[in-house]
Amino acid sequence: MRFLHLSDSHFRENYQTNDFTATMFSKTQNPRLALEQLLQNLPLMDYDFVLLTGDLVHEGQVSDYQALRKMLDHYLPTTPYFFCRGNHDRRAVFFEGMGVEANDSQEYLNCTEIRGLRIISLDSAQDDHHEGKISDGQLAQLEKWLAKPAEKGTILLVHHPLAWEDPAIATKLPAGFEEVIAKSDIIGIFVGHIHQASSGEFAGKKQIMAEALSFGVDEFPDYSLFTDRTGYTSCSLTEGKLYTYQHLLSPQQTELGRMDKPIIGNH
Ligand SMILES: [Fe+2]
Repeated sequence: MRFLHLSDSHFRENYQTNDFTATMFSKTQNPRLALEQLLQNLPLMDYDFVLLTGDLVHEGQVSDYQALRKMLDHYLPTTPYFFCRGNHDRRAVFFEGMGVEANDSQEYLNCTEIRGLRIISLDSAQDDHHEGKISDGQLAQLEKWLAKPAEKGTILLVHHPLAWEDPAIATKLPAGFEEVIAKSDIIGIFVGHIHQASSGEFAGKKQIMAEALSFGVDEFPDYSLFTDRTGYTSCSLTEGKLYTYQHLLSPQQTELGRMDKPIIGNH
């Protein structure tokens, strides 16, 4: 099976109506155009499905999500795509915009299976914090879903990294979460949020972070450096083994801006 891991598209119909994106992106160079160009040029027939690990839209409205879905449905007419919610996907508009149901805690959780491979989406986005958190309720649901192994194993989608070198950035997890992941049939944890292609390990499982489709971030002790670096990951599941390939869309980087730390609130 072959699939794509796309992340942090930060889609908006209009980038000039948001202070952050108006500073970051010009009218002629914005993530929407980059996403469309990528989808136009990919040999999508070669991929069984597409993953989108959050920050689908940047602080948008229902209409932004509808425009994103229209673009995805246009370029992926027969290729299913699966997604999770990021910290810039606002709870109040995400569900209607993406046409999905919220659970009782207003979280987006999903479990589906494609040709024996189970795909689970968790919801790590908090309303008032930049970093992620998994609720107790999500752990209980995850445990139920994972109770019976899937034929080809499970991949997990979550916007925030479950493990990260800087503990201030790692996701807050409920007690027992790590043990549930460790004993599960999970073969890969697909994440975004940091805007930097990387790999890590959580509970003995591979964690794969895609480059962002919108802008790149390099982390330094006192600031986050924003650049025009963008990219995505293509993946292969062959005889139970997961292989990932990172692709840069804009290999030449120029600085777009910096953000001082600590980050207060959720920009
Ligand atoms: Fe993001």
